[in-house]
Amino acid sequence: MTTKASSSQQSMHIDPYEKTWMIISVVLIVVFGIAIFIAGYAMGFQVPAPEQKVDPKTVAKEGPFANPGLRELAPGRYEVYVLSKIWSFVPNEITVPVGSKVTFYVTSMDVQHGFKILDTNISMQIVPGQVSKLTHTFDKAGEYKFICTEYCGAAHAAMFGKVIVTP
Ligand code: CUA
Repeated sequence: MTTKASSSQQSMHIDPYEKTWMIISVVLIVVFGIAIFIAGYAMGFQVPAPEQKVDPKTVAKEGPFANPGLRELAPGRYEVYVLSKIWSFVPNEITVPVGSKVTFYVTSMDVQHGFKILDTNISMQIVPGQVSKLTHTFDKAGEYKFICTEYCGAAHAAMFGKVIVTP
């Protein structure tokens, strides 16, 4: 066995083991890219974006969050403003007919909370000072619990509510 001292000859050499892992890495990046594309365009996954900035000290006194709850925009089209605070959501019960498309606007008047509606794609962080927004169409009648998903203190586990979808 000979060892080559010239670095110019060795510079192009890639260990086959290393080459295999380089190929696997590139394949994984492509697979993840395809997964994101399918989730976003075929399955309707949404990334919650900060919709609006608000002042957590005054948000409950003015604007739509002063009167939180459900508004009907058109038949089957709703928006709901949800105020979160330690340790409750206002409102904690929302009723819509089956087939409704509902846009949720959620903010916090104190600490960071989470807002996840079980059996839907809706799960978002609720940061004081910002309004988080996501939309879901309720195609099946039933009760959809929503829960706080960020630890926010002693009664975090008691922070929940439900969307009632009537037939
Ligand atoms: Cu609010 Cu945990």
